[in-house]
Amino acid sequence: MTKLGIIGAMQVEVETLLGEMTNQRTTRKAGSDFYEGTLEGLPVVVVQCGVGKVNAALCVQILCDCFQVTHIVNTGVAGSLCNELDIGDLVISRDAMYHDFDCGVISPAYQVGQVPGFDTVAFPADEKLISYAFAAAESVNPGHTRIGRVASGDQFVCRKDQKESIISLTGALCTEMEGAGTAQTASRNGVPYVIIRAISDKADDSAEMDYPTFETIAAHRCAQVTASLARQLNQK
Ligand code: ADE
Repeated sequence: MTKLGIIGAMQVEVETLLGEMTNQRTTRKAGSDFYEGTLEGLPVVVVQCGVGKVNAALCVQILCDCFQVTHIVNTGVAGSLCNELDIGDLVISRDAMYHDFDCGVISPAYQVGQVPGFDTVAFPADEKLISYAFAAAESVNPGHTRIGRVASGDQFVCRKDQKESIISLTGALCTEMEGAGTAQTASRNGVPYVIIRAISDKADDSAEMDYPTFETIAAHRCAQVTASLARQLNQK
């Protein structure tokens, strides 16, 4: 039986989903509330993990250990790293990597993003979830979705030089703060995952102005896509 774990960092990223789901039980663990119920008829567990990689990782581990989720989706807003992705557009992860993880000093064999013990720099998302999420995104905002890499770090990116450095290090489409933490933890648990992000800003000098204006619109769009993904998974 499919049970989808849904993880968002901030209240604005989970509130629409909480409003749309039937909530059967709420359990508090490690400072977060885990809401069990159904969304579009699909069994789900929704959690607001808080901002950053560690918060994401620990909530994914709890989703796996305590709620036995079979699939994980990380949803929320992101800064665009590519000219074709405008505010409100959507990104589905092909894979996710850290832009602020660097063990190159220990050994030049380690590339930026590579976690020792892993043989790749990026954690691949699940192919089936990618195609369902893409179809879901297209149903919400046709012609405005790209599939590609998500770059995560414990930084809100809001300077042009910072943005350009992340683009050259990762080749990612967007940047945010929880995707790769979710991806690494899901991978270590053998649970398929995908990231669904809506663009709230351009991750450059305009980001500080744009983010508060577009955060809510982008977050709610992402929630619509996630609900549509749940609908599709329920029909499989
Ligand atoms: N989430 C939304 N916009 C972001 C940005 N510019 N940097 C990091 N995380 C974000």
